Amino acid sequence: MRIYLSPPHPSGKELQYIQDVFTSNYIAPVGAYLERFESAICTYTKAPQALALCSATAGLHLALRVLGIGPGDKVAVSNFTFIASVAPILYQQAEPILIDCDESWQMDLNLLEEALRKERPKAIVLTHIYGGMADMQALVDLVQRYGAHLIEDGAEALGSTYDGKHAGTFGIFGVYSFNGNKLLTTGGGGILVGQDEALMAQARKLATQAKEPDFPWYEHTTYGYNYRLSNVLAAIGVAQMEVIQERIAKKRAIFAKYRHHLEDIATFMPEIPQTRCNRWLTALTFHDKNPLQVQEALMAAGIESRPVWKPMDLQPLFQEARCYSKGVSHDLFARGLCLPSGTQLQPHQIEEICDIVHSC
Ligand SMILES: Cc1ncc(COP(=O)(O)O)c(C=O)c1O
Repeated sequence: MRIYLSPPHPSGKELQYIQDVFTSNYIAPVGAYLERFESAICTYTKAPQALALCSATAGLHLALRVLGIGPGDKVAVSNFTFIASVAPILYQQAEPILIDCDESWQMDLNLLEEALRKERPKAIVLTHIYGGMADMQALVDLVQRYGAHLIEDGAEALGSTYDGKHAGTFGIFGVYSFNGNKLLTTGGGGILVGQDEALMAQARKLATQAKEPDFPWYEHTTYGYNYRLSNVLAAIGVAQMEVIQERIAKKRAIFAKYRHHLEDIATFMPEIPQTRCNRWLTALTFHDKNPLQVQEALMAAGIESRPVWKPMDLQPLFQEARCYSKGVSHDLFARGLCLPSGTQLQPHQIEEICDIVHSC
């Protein structure tokens, strides 16, 4: 493969910071770079608290667990998303209620309201898909009216904003992913952000095997997980956070160039009023091309692309799940494709990609 979908892009400081970690010998899930990484996230997103973890999936799981979501509880969750938004609901043996998107590609708030009224879910896991955001004011109003907890899956949306407020900071919890293809990477990692100090302290404890404080031995009154991020990987995160604004600017420039070249044959994921999308991946739907044929033609030229997420209600795993839908995500899936969006992509490469797409 010559061109990947969204490969890592080092800032240049990573090895220096890793060297610091080795000098300190905190080659462990504790250390100064974990604190620096968490504090960089708080400064950037204005989240009051952050917890560095081995994945965003782990963050969603901790959020559900500390909110007391368990067997028999219902959780409303985006239908047009990656499985990691939904799997933690299953870890807790709760029931996912799938909520489809509308033409904005984000969760359909009318369908969400219907589900809130009929199902009374305890929590909502809302994905900010491809870095886009829904009308967050309307969403927060709904959540308050029905008394559900809002957990934002911002795995793809670090740096996206609504009225200047960051994705991940509207709900009681939010997560960001730092896996290998995200806006920034630690080679695998996630951040849980939260508004409530006591709940975040609980999440922190559960992330490190739920050890009771103030005992000379390991004392446990409940079970936890081994979910903490390594200090080595946090050093990479600190180096990556230093260039976040440049990376978002580049992602947005890539999106604009694709749109300029392909507007005649495709519709791009919209950015609704008041929102600013990080454009993690440029995602579009073709007017009358088959996305799988385009994917194949790109692949033949050594270029990676990917169909948009296959909706959860089309997955065999969720055949029995309740789903509130008008079928919008099915149409997006039938016509959608994500184009290479790595921040080291050169303008001539984007032109080459667009030429191949046009020729299909
Ligand atoms: C929408 C969404 N949620 C959750 C995740 C999971 O993130 P992680 O790989 O850090 O667990 C991803 C990406 O991997 C994602 O795209």
